[in-house]
Amino acid sequence: MQVRLVNTSPFLDQKPGTSGLRKKVKVFQKTHYLENFVQSIFDTLEIANNSVLTLGGDGRYFNAQAIQVIIQMAAANGFAKVLVGQGGILSTPAASHIIRKYHTLGGIILSASHNPAGPDEDFGIKYNTPNGGPAPEKITESIFEKSKTIQQYKLLSLPAVDLNTIGLTHFDGFSVEVIDPVRDYADLMESMFDFAAIRNLFSDGFSIKFDGMHAVTGPYARELLINRLGAPAHSLMNCVVSETFGGGHPDPNLTYADALVKIVYGTDAPEFAAASDGDGDRNMILGKGFFVTPSDSLAIIAANAHLIPAYQQGLSGVARSMPTSGAVDRVAQKMNIPCFETPTGWKFFGNLMDANKVTLCGEESFGTGSNHVREKDGLWAVLCWLNIVAAKKQSVEAIVKAHWAEYGRNVYSRHDFEGIPTEQANAVMTHLKTQFKSLPGREFGRYQVAQCDDFSYVDPVDGSVSTGQGIRILFECGSRIVFRLSGTGTEGATIRIYLEAYEPDTTQHHLDAQVALGEMIQISLQLSQLKENTGREAPTVIT
Ligand code: G1P
Ligand code: ZN
Repeated sequence: MQVRLVNTSPFLDQKPGTSGLRKKVKVFQKTHYLENFVQSIFDTLEIANNSVLTLGGDGRYFNAQAIQVIIQMAAANGFAKVLVGQGGILSTPAASHIIRKYHTLGGIILSASHNPAGPDEDFGIKYNTPNGGPAPEKITESIFEKSKTIQQYKLLSLPAVDLNTIGLTHFDGFSVEVIDPVRDYADLMESMFDFAAIRNLFSDGFSIKFDGMHAVTGPYARELLINRLGAPAHSLMNCVVSETFGGGHPDPNLTYADALVKIVYGTDAPEFAAASDGDGDRNMILGKGFFVTPSDSLAIIAANAHLIPAYQQGLSGVARSMPTSGAVDRVAQKMNIPCFETPTGWKFFGNLMDANKVTLCGEESFGTGSNHVREKDGLWAVLCWLNIVAAKKQSVEAIVKAHWAEYGRNVYSRHDFEGIPTEQANAVMTHLKTQFKSLPGREFGRYQVAQCDDFSYVDPVDGSVSTGQGIRILFECGSRIVFRLSGTGTEGATIRIYLEAYEPDTTQHHLDAQVALGEMIQISLQLSQLKENTGREAPTVIT
């Protein structure tokens, strides 16, 4: 078989982020576009004659076609083997696990996370390194540099591999193994959690509803919750992967997972409910008529980690992104373990985990995880909660309220203002920056400003510095307002306002976060002049 060299020309107008390159499917379908990007990735790697590549995606439109191309390019670029999930499927955390378990030379994950899928929607490609985590900036930078000068890509014309049949196909000096995308991951989960206790919980009639949102977690949830843990089949909804994600927006939050939310707040609500996103790394946890904020979820998992077999030896430390509430800080303090505050984005956690400084980490944006992989992990979070519920024999609501009674409550909400013209969004941030130095000491009702800054972070492992990570207004009582511009939006700018009011006495405040945060919301609008600068009366999304 002959390696074909195809002439091409530079193409990328934008540096890929650590979440890879996300574009419309139509862009990836342009002549040479996909191939150029994949060749630029391969050109940054040192591929040896025994190197293996992990490959799979979230099952969205264009996944299967892209996989055939990437297999042919991996063969031409000198990989010995490609491990690909059956049907082209691998959730992001499962891919991270496969990379680590089989020591592959990283992996290519095809996903645009929770973005809608279909011929007119989004596609994405991301390279994860051999530690299982997203490529750090120096690698994405080098991929970008290669892509600016690319002249040729390599392809080996192979017959299309049958992705639906598990097994090994040999070619001359190269092979493709179609693997069960679920088994290794499910085995890992079974080794970490008390499956016997969770099985007993379900056999005693404990009810659960899991919403796969028509995306990748469906088959994983079926294997774990139904086959291995014995929950009844009707516990699953939207658990068949569809190329268009059922026409939906698979982001597990109160806005986009509204079908599940309706069930949880209706009559006949299950005792436990959860959802995951397009590629399986995000999670939302709910009890009967009760929503657990991701920040509280992280804190509660940390406080109860000793109940989970994988963490019985204790936690080396915990980490949260800066805008995530300080609930976990209080737990870490009590446990006397370090708590790291990192900039937004999962990549900062990877360094801490590789250096064994943290075991658990999380973000307010529905991402929670641990050092079992190097990505956030939706179903892992669901199993943490089921394990804790099984051990404590209490409802989700009772567990959260007991936690608040012990540590106080960090009442929390994020208000997103999407699709704002960039100049207006910049005006809001500039306004905040020009005045935040004069704020300390000022009083707003019962809140007195203690400190303001533009958050920066020095990575304790590699010493790298990240500046301009969001404006923090910290109040004396432990409450906070944070302002940040989103780094992932595609249309205009998104201003995120993160609101947090610390309430030590949880008998004294309103359960509804929006009511409890009323004063904070007013202060945030007053300080930012958001309405005056953008004309927006209300947020687009509240989580
Ligand atoms: C958003 C979330 C952030 C998360 C990222 C990737 O980024 O806020 O926590 O790590 O998506 O999933 P943002 O748009 O805020 O930059
Ligand atoms: Zn995701």
